[in-house]
Amino acid sequence: TSAQIGVTGLAVMGRNLARNFARNGYTVAVHNRTVARTKALVEEFGSEGDFIGTETAEEFVAALERPRRLVIMVKAGGPTDAVIEEFAPLLEPGDMIIDGGNAHFADTRRREKALREQGIHFVGMGVSGGEEGALHGPSIMPGGPKESYDSLGPMLEKISAKAKDGAPCVTHVGPDGAGHFVKMVHNGIEYADMQLIGEAYQLLRDVAGYSPAEIAEIFRTWNQGRLDSYLIEITAEVLSHVDAATGKPFVDVVVDQAEQKGTGRWTVQIALDLGVPVSGIAEAVFARSLSGHAGLREASQGLAGPKAAPLGKEEAAAFADRVEQALYASKIVSYTQGFHEIAAGSEEYGWDVDLGAVSAIWRGGCIIRAAFLDRIRAAYDARADLPSLLSDETFAREIADAQDDWREVVIAGVRQGVPTPGFSAALAYYDALRASRLPAALTQGQRDFFGAHTYRRVDREGAFHTLWGGDRSEVSA
Ligand code: 6PG
Repeated sequence: TSAQIGVTGLAVMGRNLARNFARNGYTVAVHNRTVARTKALVEEFGSEGDFIGTETAEEFVAALERPRRLVIMVKAGGPTDAVIEEFAPLLEPGDMIIDGGNAHFADTRRREKALREQGIHFVGMGVSGGEEGALHGPSIMPGGPKESYDSLGPMLEKISAKAKDGAPCVTHVGPDGAGHFVKMVHNGIEYADMQLIGEAYQLLRDVAGYSPAEIAEIFRTWNQGRLDSYLIEITAEVLSHVDAATGKPFVDVVVDQAEQKGTGRWTVQIALDLGVPVSGIAEAVFARSLSGHAGLREASQGLAGPKAAPLGKEEAAAFADRVEQALYASKIVSYTQGFHEIAAGSEEYGWDVDLGAVSAIWRGGCIIRAAFLDRIRAAYDARADLPSLLSDETFAREIADAQDDWREVVIAGVRQGVPTPGFSAALAYYDALRASRLPAALTQGQRDFFGAHTYRRVDREGAFHTLWGGDRSEVSA
């Protein structure tokens, strides 16, 4: 017998993905640098389906039916290159290497190009949903050559999560690095969602005066409405959890320094390169890094500012409703920014990414899965060339309804000294977009003053320069 698919790299994500394929009836060849891991998988989970345990790279490759489909699930960066270098010489034209790690899309582009020259199809594949998703159905974002999807797609559709309407949460996102790019932005949005939820929590705690257990209940209620999502659901779980050792709320015994593995940062770095304002995602990344500067925070403990005074019971409940509005409006802005970045990446690299299809495959399996994504899909269904999510009538109306509360929440945070970088940045973005005039005109004047950088006029075509150091007359540049 030979295997329809192979997985090398059997840490938890690789192991669970291999099990998912096997549970869906595929024969799966498995391989790991440390053979003990391969043996452990086959021993522990062999009854779930057909596994072929292999020890060497040669054995692994020989176990695969042709054209071979070889999934690598190792650390992004050097380890991924090392595995590709190990296997590529053993493969034949038409074979497929599928990288299911969180690779940087630029690396994926480079690898795809190099392997294409050898006739090997390289598929950079974003996989979201953590360990559970990998096992029970992730959201899958494959890029790479379109023809690879003809044979790989049906298998991925089988193992992927299914949206509520039954549609598999996978699509061919676009050529070369498109899949990993979209996965990167997914993670950037994940960071923003988490930051906004964090701000809502802190406002409910410090401004409204609720306990973590009470806030968990509020999130549970929100999860019944338009904020229905995996991240809101697990937030309620985390907030209601009590530490066994101390009897304190779990959230109070965890060190408040957030870590990151890099995909959120990449989202912002690439957005800077593409010139896309992803201020909400950037604030989320900066908030994590600020939290990690323990010494700086320690040294700042004495700085002046208001001390939040909790609200009375009735006001607190009314405030909680406002926070829900602020969170929802800010979430619309984060997704607006994230989809703008995908559109810009698609344009820059000629990927032709279907934004509606991306929102559709994020409806299930992934960390940002949410009822909300159905609405984004509906927005793109209604108008495929939507310039921005904020141009969608439904979202525009919802923000119009939310904005008074949104502003009040930001004001409350400012007044009471509770930082809301995500809510505030989202609101600033919204107000900047709707402003008829921006101070960018003044910026242009300053640039022309100190560097003769020139400016355009509202009433005439062309580039102009004012002779600032002379008689201040205007010349054509
Ligand atoms: C997913 C997640 C996952 C990511 C973690 C950790 O979609 O399943 O995005 O890919 O590794 O969320 O990210 P940080 O360590 O950067 O928070």
